[in-house]
Amino acid sequence: MNPFTDPQAVARYAEGPPRLVPGFADLQRMAMLLIAEKVSEDARVLVLGAGGGLELKTFAEAQPRWRFDGVDPAAEMLKLAQVTLGPLAARVRLHLGYIDAAPEGPFDAAACLLTLHFVPVAERGRTLREIRRRLRPGAPFVAAHLSFPQGEKERALWLSRYAAFAVASGVEPAKAEGASAAIGAQLPILAPEREEALLRDAGFSNVSLFYAGFAFRGWVGYADG
Ligand SMILES: C[S@@+](CC[C@H](N)C(=O)[O-])C[C@H]1O[C@@H](n2cnc3c(N)ncnc32)[C@H](O)[C@@H]1O
Repeated sequence: MNPFTDPQAVARYAEGPPRLVPGFADLQRMAMLLIAEKVSEDARVLVLGAGGGLELKTFAEAQPRWRFDGVDPAAEMLKLAQVTLGPLAARVRLHLGYIDAAPEGPFDAAACLLTLHFVPVAERGRTLREIRRRLRPGAPFVAAHLSFPQGEKERALWLSRYAAFAVASGVEPAKAEGASAAIGAQLPILAPEREEALLRDAGFSNVSLFYAGFAFRGWVGYADG
């Protein structure tokens, strides 16, 4: 069962990222700050993979005048976002679908957290270009997701560290091992250099790494003018 469409799994979604992603709250806060350093107080921000609403909530609480469009293909995750946001939802429009469901913008910034590792490699470049196309020149784009070296031994090592972090956060060892094996078998994870090349090819400049938390990495890049 897809964890983003299964209502029971979605109900527990918010417990997951803090236990699985090292420094999750700070990752969200850094994403907000990287956007804030470039945009005005009333910025319009696109969030792809906005289901659950966790980064929308962090961003909206920190920036009382930003307005958001959040896009996600999982209806249950969008419902959860609505609940998570509560009254903050007044500044958020949620759209069901993939990147093509996003309004044309132009947006002052975009974020895509813990999501691009689900996008098949063949779709990754197009997804990034479609984000880029909706941004004003110079607008920041912040992305963070699973990315690690792809040699056989290195993959095994980083996946074992993913599981070890989960166990250290209180996840049952058998569940952590199962999740790590499923990630290794099913997700189109790319090496960091490949991620950076895809961002540059999609029209982002000054791409730089701002976050590395075991198997997860995050970059900021700026839409070419
Ligand atoms: C792990 S959750 C992350 C949600 C949120 N960004 C966060 O950090 O809590 C991944 C989300 O990506 C969504 N997703 C999966 N494939 C996607 C795609 N191709 N485009 C946009 N969102 C996608 C899923 O439905 C899910 O809501």
